[in-house]
Amino acid sequence: MAEAPAGLQPSWDRDRPLLVFDSGIGGLTVLREARVLMPERRFVYVADDAAFPYGNWEEAALRERLVALFGGLIAEYHPLACVIACNTASTLALDALRAAYPEMTFVGTVPAIKPAAERTRSGLVSVLATPGTVKRQYTRDLIDQWATKCEVRLVGSFQLAALAEAYMRQGLVEEEAVRAEIAPCFVEKDGRRTDIVVLACTHYPFIVNRMRKMAPWPVDWLDPAEAIARRALSILPPIALDAPIERHVDAAVFTSGRADAVTRRLMQGFGLKA
Ligand code: DGL
Repeated sequence: MAEAPAGLQPSWDRDRPLLVFDSGIGGLTVLREARVLMPERRFVYVADDAAFPYGNWEEAALRERLVALFGGLIAEYHPLACVIACNTASTLALDALRAAYPEMTFVGTVPAIKPAAERTRSGLVSVLATPGTVKRQYTRDLIDQWATKCEVRLVGSFQLAALAEAYMRQGLVEEEAVRAEIAPCFVEKDGRRTDIVVLACTHYPFIVNRMRKMAPWPVDWLDPAEAIARRALSILPPIALDAPIERHVDAAVFTSGRADAVTRRLMQGFGLKA
């Protein structure tokens, strides 16, 4: 096999996919950014739909499930790296995954508290996430580390991830339910108002336009998908820019083994075959 020029990725590694993982279809918000940045890469998208939603899981049980699941995924797909495109899983199990599979590179997705703290003008920031992400020590530590100069409100939503799943499949979302879920994000205090809402669940960007419509005042909705894709790009060995881009269809894997026709169609729209 011919040697790759210094610094570039050898061709035998180039076919190894980047594994993008979420509990459901939320990680597709990250996958679509990754595709734009890395059109020559192969991807495999894995949705642990058998266990969706992750938001309400007991921590030890979910951590155990994730470590066991990745053992199988790594053995089967031999990925170049794994992008955990899920805040609920990353804030819980990134350390355990890295410890269990030290040869593998994991890119995590954690609430974008640092950029929010840097950007806020009012000093009032809200983090909208699953109940799991909201209660994690990891999330509290991010606030202590980066956001001591502002007030951060953590808002745990039981419904929004499921609403986003339904919206992507049926094209409809109950707007009043969205309004009720996002309402606690909006704080008024001493003449100041929340000006940034961190979307700390990868499902939420799919319904951000509905959120915008139902918001009591305009805010910045911080979606970290592009930053995660850039992070993945930055840690992978570069590919020569003139390397041929082959046409291929990437796989989407559902742990339930039951992707229905609507889901398969949705995957097709993202260039994936379920
Ligand atoms: N998309 C996931 C996240 O970023 C969570 C959705 C869920 O399983 O509740 O946290």
